[in-house]
Amino acid sequence: MRIVVIGASGLIGSNVAGKLEEHGHEVVAASPNTGVNTLTGEGVADAMQGTQVVIDVSNSPSFADEDVMRFFETSTGNLLAAEEQAGVTHHVALSVVGAERLPDSGYLRAKCRQEELIKGSGIPYSIVHATQFFEFVRRIADAATEGNTVRLPPVLFQPIAAEDVARAVARASVGEPLNGVVEVGGPEQFRFDELVRRTLRADGDPREVVADPDARYFGTTLTERSLVPGDGAQLGEQRYEDWLGQPAAAR
Ligand SMILES: NC(=O)c1ccc[n+]([C@@H]2O[C@H](COP(=O)([O-])OP(=O)(O)OC[C@H]3O[C@@H](n4cnc5c(N)ncnc54)[C@H](OP(=O)(O)O)[C@@H]3O)[C@@H](O)[C@H]2O)c1
Repeated sequence: MRIVVIGASGLIGSNVAGKLEEHGHEVVAASPNTGVNTLTGEGVADAMQGTQVVIDVSNSPSFADEDVMRFFETSTGNLLAAEEQAGVTHHVALSVVGAERLPDSGYLRAKCRQEELIKGSGIPYSIVHATQFFEFVRRIADAATEGNTVRLPPVLFQPIAAEDVARAVARASVGEPLNGVVEVGGPEQFRFDELVRRTLRADGDPREVVADPDARYFGTTLTERSLVPGDGAQLGEQRYEDWLGQPAAAR
C-alpha cells in the first residue's frame, strides 16, 4: 500500500512511518521539509497521487488559540480536498481523548474542528483518540508553572508512550476504515499532580508541584475523568516507571 504520513518528521509521524516501512508499505514521509505543507497547500496534491491511505499526525507549531484553530481548519481542509481529488480511500487522524468534553481549551476546540471536517468529508476515516504522551509530561509541567510552582488538578491521568500511540495509529491505517473513533491510553492510571511531581523529581527539577482542583490545563478546568478513556479503550504496553527509568537522552 502507498501511505502518505503527514507530519512524518514529528514524534509520532517518524515512528509510524518507520513501522509501516518495516512492514513493506510504500511510505511517503510528508512535512514542510520534504516539500509538503498542508497549511499553504504546497506539494499536497502531488503527494496524494496513487495513494490509498493518508495518516495525519501533524501538529500546529503554535498552541495559541487562534493559531491552532487556523492550523487544523486550513490544513485539514486542504488535505481532504486533495484526497477527494486523488481518490484516497482512508484518512487516519490522531486526536485527543476527551477533546469533545473540554471546549474551554482552544487547542481541543481546534482538534474537534479537525474531527468535524473529517467526519463531514465523505472520505472513509479512522480517528485515533490518544491520552497524553509520556513525552508530553514535561511540556505540561512547563505550561502549568508560575515561578517555582506547578499547579495541577489532582484528577485521573492515564498517559501513554509515543511508541504505543504510533503502533495504534499504524494498525488503524492498515485496517478497514472505522468511520468512527478508537481510544488508546496507557496501561495505568495516576493522579495528575502526583505523576508530574514524580517526573520532575526523577529529572532533579526543583519545581514544587501543588494539587489545585481549580488549576487550568491548557485553558480548561478538569473533572475527575476528563482525561481518561472509556472502558473499551486499547491499552499501551509500556509502563511510565520503566520509561522514566531510562536515561534522559533515550526518552
Ligand atoms: N502530545 C500529546 O500528548 C497528544 C495526545 C493526543 C494526541 N496528540 C496529537 O498527536 C499529533 C502529533 O503530535 P506530535 O507530538 O507527534 O507532533 P510533533 O512532534 O510536534 O510533530 C508535528 C509534525 O507536524 C509537521 N507540520 C507542522 N506544520 C506543518 C504543515 N504546515 N504542513 C505539514 N506538516 C506540518 C511538523 O513538521 P516540521 O517539524 O518538519 O515542521 C512535524 O512533522 C497532534 O495532532 C496532536 O494533536 C498529541
